[in-house]
Amino acid sequence: MKKDLSNIKKSEFYLNKNECVGIPTETVYGLAANAYSNEATAKIFKLKKRSKKNPLIVHYYSIKDLKRDCEINSNFEKLYKIFCPGPITFVLKLKKKSKISKNVTNMKRTLAVRFPKHYLARKLLKNISYPLAAPSANISSKVSAVCRSDVAEEFGNKVKYILDGGTSKIGLESTIVSLINKPEILRLGGIELSKIKKVFKNKINFKIKSTKTVVPGQGALHYSPGIKIRLNARNPKIHEAFILIKKRKINVKNYFYLTKNNNLKEAGKNLYKTLRMIKKLKYKSISVEKIPNIGIGQTINDRLIRASKK
Ligand code: TXA
Ligand code: MG
Repeated sequence: MKKDLSNIKKSEFYLNKNECVGIPTETVYGLAANAYSNEATAKIFKLKKRSKKNPLIVHYYSIKDLKRDCEINSNFEKLYKIFCPGPITFVLKLKKKSKISKNVTNMKRTLAVRFPKHYLARKLLKNISYPLAAPSANISSKVSAVCRSDVAEEFGNKVKYILDGGTSKIGLESTIVSLINKPEILRLGGIELSKIKKVFKNKINFKIKSTKTVVPGQGALHYSPGIKIRLNARNPKIHEAFILIKKRKINVKNYFYLTKNNNLKEAGKNLYKTLRMIKKLKYKSISVEKIPNIGIGQTINDRLIRASKK
């Protein structure tokens, strides 16, 4: 990965001017702006063509910074100790005196917050005096971006600057846990569900259904490459792109491996990159080999099911 510390200053320059900047995180790239600024956060919605009703995740450097805006609780502390910084987002109560822009929360009294692990994101957050609102750096409902060029492809020169931090290590968005009442998983993500369940000795609500809207941005049709997707396929139909996770004896040019040896973490990292590539190659339909619904496989399946909705 390219060490690009000099470009942190450039990112700060644009963020301080209330502009949006593409930032690398270990999950996916974010389209970041000053979370305290109405002007800056309004630009995120415009660039992404995102519904104003869909609240944003805010990124922090430390708990000390977070406490300016949110009430924390013991469940938060438990999870923070184990998983942060890392691919987990917490929904917490917003403090009355918080300066978070009303655009970020859609006027609600809760806030989704996260502590990204990527060293450039952390360096940037440490240097600035405000947290960063940052949804995934893609046009709404499309495939998330996992490297600098993906972000450029989505927004062209409409985004003032993109901080290059190489390819996102995880390649799937963060796991979202609401801690407002009893812990509840709102979105599967970069942390395996079983690991979070273990922390709460299985006493955690989890009621995600692929087509049910649990949170505004989790409705059907999401993460979509804009191509028909067929799941649990044994063999591709002619002219289809075939996504695989196990090496096959014959090698055909329409085969796209997420991993060759069933390594689901590797498959997760390569998912969005592969969907993007297939789209560029102008395939009209995609079939996907059955992916075991365990570990990160659950997150991959969640994304594929949403991506396959018409
Ligand atoms: O890994 C990630 O989480 C990436 C990186 C950039 O941090 N961000 C990301 O943001 O995936 P976005 O906006 O694409 O997805 C955030 C999801 C949306 O579905 C949104 O509705 C939900 O989080 N969300 C935001 N604030 C919420 C809140 N207060 N309560 C419940 N859900 C919330
Ligand atoms: Mg997104």
